[in-house]
Amino acid sequence: MLPAWSAGRAVASGTAIVPYLRAMARLTRVKASETERIASALEADGAVVVDGLLAPDLLDRFNAEVDPLLAQARTGERRFINDAIAWFFGDRTDHLTGIAGKSRIFAAEILTHPVYMAVCDRILGPHCARYQLNVAQVLDRGPGAEQQLLHRDEDVWIHLPRPHPEIQLASVVALVDFTADNGATRVVPGSHRWDRDRQPADDDLASAEMPAGSAVIYLGSTIHGGGANVTSAARRRGMHVSYCVGWLRTEENQLLATTLDTARQLPRRAQELLGLAAHDAIESGGGYLGAVELQDPVELIAAGKL
Ligand SMILES: [Fe+2]
Repeated sequence: MLPAWSAGRAVASGTAIVPYLRAMARLTRVKASETERIASALEADGAVVVDGLLAPDLLDRFNAEVDPLLAQARTGERRFINDAIAWFFGDRTDHLTGIAGKSRIFAAEILTHPVYMAVCDRILGPHCARYQLNVAQVLDRGPGAEQQLLHRDEDVWIHLPRPHPEIQLASVVALVDFTADNGATRVVPGSHRWDRDRQPADDDLASAEMPAGSAVIYLGSTIHGGGANVTSAARRRGMHVSYCVGWLRTEENQLLATTLDTARQLPRRAQELLGLAAHDAIESGGGYLGAVELQDPVELIAAGKL
């Protein structure tokens, strides 16, 4: 999620770091049922708004599950891995991290959503033996939350030489209506193909204004950032969900965010996406990652041995 400065580099280096810009560009909008068009728009523009990703009933049930968890999160005692990350998120955002381990609805219904799976199959599938969940966090951004630094999420893997294939598919799901005023995510369509030194101008930015239940899906190589919440009282509740190829270390440690006891109760597909499955690239001429006792952990769970 964070650019090079998180590793101690200058704020003005590399990835697009710019002052406030008005959003003027447009994002392609596609219905959730049109998975082929979603993937095509992603390849063309690097980002797309998917209307109706979460059906109304699923959205309502998930928000109801999240409500008490977010209330507990409002302790004001959030600590971050370092000061740069604290600055990036600011002090007006309530976080709910490791959602896969806290929300049964997320783990059983959203993590394995057919749209995510279809798009990951197409974008990430050719570059790995399996993909996995990278991050799942609810970010509830309150009034006064400042615009986020524009960045590319894939820069968390800054040591990976370029050019490289797409390694990440990310998204922000609107859990309430997203407006320009409450801080709708801002995205730079086409920036996945830009030279790394190019900085966005006003005309390059699009605001992902969308109703609750919709999502903006974007590539790890696409420049984006949360907008400023300039309202007096409205909170912008969204969920960041991203997947990456299965041979990378994940930004959020899913194997610790979800206990083994919890994971055992989940569908096998969810277990796989949480990183419990081995990444077996033998058929591609490679090797395997993540084995336990030289076996696939998901198989061991199924056999009652783990
Ligand atoms: Fe991001």
